[in-house]
Amino acid sequence: MSLPAWGYPRTMAHRGAGALAPENTLAALRQGHALGYRAAEVDVKLSADGVAFLLHDDTLERTTTGRGRANALDWRALSQLDAGAWHGAAFAGEPLPAYAAVLAWCAANGVALNAEIKPVKGFERATGAAVALDSRTHWAAQGLQPLLSSFSTEALAGARDAVPELPRAHLFPHPLPDDWLSRCQSVGAIALDCHWHSVTPERVRIAHAAGLHVLCYTCNEPERVHELLSWGVGTVITDAVDRVPFLPSELS
Ligand code: G3P
Ligand code: MG
Repeated sequence: MSLPAWGYPRTMAHRGAGALAPENTLAALRQGHALGYRAAEVDVKLSADGVAFLLHDDTLERTTTGRGRANALDWRALSQLDAGAWHGAAFAGEPLPAYAAVLAWCAANGVALNAEIKPVKGFERATGAAVALDSRTHWAAQGLQPLLSSFSTEALAGARDAVPELPRAHLFPHPLPDDWLSRCQSVGAIALDCHWHSVTPERVRIAHAAGLHVLCYTCNEPERVHELLSWGVGTVITDAVDRVPFLPSELS
């Protein structure tokens, strides 16, 4: 099977630039941009009233001034939380961003986006559909569309059914489960997205032969990033945006 060219940048900032600024905020995206990054991965889930917004955890405590389940509050309440102070006083007052605002910022600043659909349990399909619909509505750039990724096959199916034309990548934990290829195919994914410890040259060959590109997360060792790319990995997601150079797509 022939593999279409991979249009996404070769390196991508994890959670915005979530090691250097509060993860999954516009401040993190600005930090990555300032260091030359033009590609970012972010985590997206739903508020109680169905607004897609950026947050990694199912609960609010670690990265915000809120408490309890992330999907127990409506967007009005979530938008008033401080999502920056936990990371450092310089970021105090940084809000949780709505996914729509992130789409607009990325499109305006030439930053390619990998939206990881991170549903709270029980909301897989709805979250996938909302992320896909927002991506279609609020992405104002020509060319490269947001890549939608998820560990949840159901969330990816929800995204596919809502907006089939958006590209999807299936995430998997390490070790890679045996059924990774059939699960990628079941949601029409264009890429396998796996832990970098799961990547081998042989596995890249198998994915490519099946028509799938390969992304991997989250590699913070510059030498290993280059090795993974030399094996044919399309994109490596990294926290180390100050040590791993931004590498644009081979097409750009
Ligand atoms: O998108 C890949 C990576 O972000 C998955 O792990 O837990 O950082 O969202 P996590
Ligand atoms: Mg993620």
